[in-house]
Amino acid sequence: MMTVPTLTGRPPAAARRPDLAAQLLRRKPIGQMVSEADNGHGGTKLVRSFGVLQLTMISVGATLGTGILVILGESVPLAGPAIWISFAIAGLAALLSAVSYAEMAGLVPVAGSSYSYTYATMGEGMAWICGWCLVLEYAVSVAAVAVGAGQYVNETLAVFGQVLPDAVSQPPGDGGIMNIPAMVIVVLATILLVRGARESAWINTAIVVIKVGILLFFCAVAFTAFNAGNFEPLLPMGAAGVSAAASTVFFSYIGFDAASTAGEEARNPKRDLPRAIMLSMVIVTTIYVLVAVAAIGARPWGWFDGTEAALVKILEETTGQPWIALVFAVGAVLAIASIVLTVLYGQTRILLSMSRDGLIPRIFGRVSSRTGTPVAGTVIVGVLVALTAGLVPLGDLADATSIGTLFAFALVNVAVIYLRRNRPELKRTFRVPLFPLTPILGALMCAYLMANLGADTWAVFGIWMLVGLAAYFGYGRKHSRVAALGHEEYRELSGRESSPLSTPEPTKADLS
Ligand code: ALA
Repeated sequence: MMTVPTLTGRPPAAARRPDLAAQLLRRKPIGQMVSEADNGHGGTKLVRSFGVLQLTMISVGATLGTGILVILGESVPLAGPAIWISFAIAGLAALLSAVSYAEMAGLVPVAGSSYSYTYATMGEGMAWICGWCLVLEYAVSVAAVAVGAGQYVNETLAVFGQVLPDAVSQPPGDGGIMNIPAMVIVVLATILLVRGARESAWINTAIVVIKVGILLFFCAVAFTAFNAGNFEPLLPMGAAGVSAAASTVFFSYIGFDAASTAGEEARNPKRDLPRAIMLSMVIVTTIYVLVAVAAIGARPWGWFDGTEAALVKILEETTGQPWIALVFAVGAVLAIASIVLTVLYGQTRILLSMSRDGLIPRIFGRVSSRTGTPVAGTVIVGVLVALTAGLVPLGDLADATSIGTLFAFALVNVAVIYLRRNRPELKRTFRVPLFPLTPILGALMCAYLMANLGADTWAVFGIWMLVGLAAYFGYGRKHSRVAALGHEEYRELSGRESSPLSTPEPTKADLS
């Protein structure tokens, strides 16, 4: 056995810490990540139970939801009949990044997703920034999505002549006291996640089947009222309108990367993660373009301006059945439920990885031997998200989730380029096609969509990043485990990962 140092979870001695620049640039060896995941370093071992079906459904569950149900209708006035092109552009940006995710997930199958990929390629500083952006993509977005629950529960109840008073269905800034439905959904999802990942994945699969069914039902009904004339003129708002709408509807694609946070719970992650990511992208993009074409085919684009809950109205008017709203409202509540479940799941796994690295407190990484889940971390995240969803009107912050996500996606594209150049010998179970064109275009598309977002969104993003920097310097920098290694130890670890995935045994034995 090689005599390299065992990494402890204890805070490093200040004397051992490298200077700031060296620490920010210090990369975590891939072999070390894989080995720590296999060994469950520091009590962080998760149970491997997911096959490709559950992994795909985790990604579809996290993606398909309020974007298509709500934002589609709101974005038609921006782009006109070409809204389906906006969906296709946003889908292309997501797809280009999805192939990079697929390559990285097959190569570094750990729970940290893009946070871990960035740590392995661009160093601790960028990894922290990426992890902090992922909190925007996951925890903040899930709270923003859950906020809509009050509205949809009311639409469901309205069919029976009942509604919840604003006091208990809206947050304080929107005329209420507390958004109880949003909080209930988050609490239920938290309880499920604490009980077990396998159970959560099966319930999610069932919900996803229902929500896909409801959207296909919408298409079937809307196509009966199809009028090809609604697609002319195609570009009444010009290319600029299509482009602005593409940035807005990009929100609908957020979540396809959720499967990559299940790297330590997949039975065969190197094979199944790339498949699940690609499969979920194909399912989601097909449904989005179908729904967009069906909606525009059913109503002229001008009709969408000022029309709330446009998809429900199309269903009601086409079928002449008011109860149809019930089907759709139930679908929306279920969509919210599965997004909350899968995105909360992903957030807890990313935090587990960050905690394993010492960048956030260890409590987020402690896995219960009874349930096989990070109980304390899940409860903390669940409570914080429930309070945020129940008490904060999240409009502006929700916009910022897209910018944070795009930034993380851009980093994954860069990570693919870096590893192809610097570690060409690593075995890849999925390879980005047309390298290096695809990841370069992927990163550029992300930058383009980021640039299209408004100044307010950038301002919120800037404030978010400043808070993140304060957290890093207040805690992460002092507790980083990679930084705790002495220079020689670090060189030895990095030097040993000549082919971590093809020959994992030495690192496994030495780092446990
Ligand atoms: N993609 C998710 C949604 O559309 C966030 O709700």
